[in-house]
Amino acid sequence: MLRYCFILFLAIAHAAFAEVTQSEPYGLGRPVNSDEIAAWDIDVRPDGLGLPRGMGSVQQGARTYARKCASCHGTNGVEGPFDVLVGRLPGDIFPFARKPGTIKTIGNYWPYTTTIFDYINRAMPFEAPGSLSTGEVYSLVAYLLYRNDIVAADTVLSAENLATIAMPARHRFVPDDRRGGSEVH
Ligand code: HEC
Repeated sequence: MLRYCFILFLAIAHAAFAEVTQSEPYGLGRPVNSDEIAAWDIDVRPDGLGLPRGMGSVQQGARTYARKCASCHGTNGVEGPFDVLVGRLPGDIFPFARKPGTIKTIGNYWPYTTTIFDYINRAMPFEAPGSLSTGEVYSLVAYLLYRNDIVAADTVLSAENLATIAMPARHRFVPDDRRGGSEVH
């Protein structure tokens, strides 16, 4: 009798499970539309793929920076109280491995302009991430590159030219294509 009960239990369990899996696997989630995907799909790649249409100048960036960024990063991008954004090292040396305490800035460390765009676009200002317009982000990148002596004062950045600007520390970074071996820890 016990054996028949067990088999019956298995049959019921199987039927119940089959019903769930056949209709809605776990009853979780819902279809998303293309607008919802677009709102999340904002990453920008080093070659510029993913950059939205828009543009912004150094001059516009200076105004936006003073209003929305200077309180945390300082009037000149060096005073803080939070991260220092401006500064090159003499001869563009790269002493970070030897002197780990060296402050990393956009000018002495960041290898791609597109990462500056992506970071500001998704994360700044700290208390209101996602609140900047595309034009504001382009202009802030232009202004910060200007302050780091990377572009001229009359620069206008857009999806067409942002990725073409070479960063001073670009050649310090190489793809890690190692495959196994003792060198991988
Ligand atoms: C309320 C304070 C605050 C404001 C306003 C603010 N930031 Fe920041 N910012 C921070 C903090 C804190 C960090 C470090 C975040 C972390 O490491 O997770 C940061 C980090 C950054 C970084 C990365 C620095 C690095 O080298 O890692 C950039 C670039 C940046 N902010 C740009 C901006 C810009 C542009 C604005 C104006 C639109 C802005 N921030 C406004 C607080 C602020």
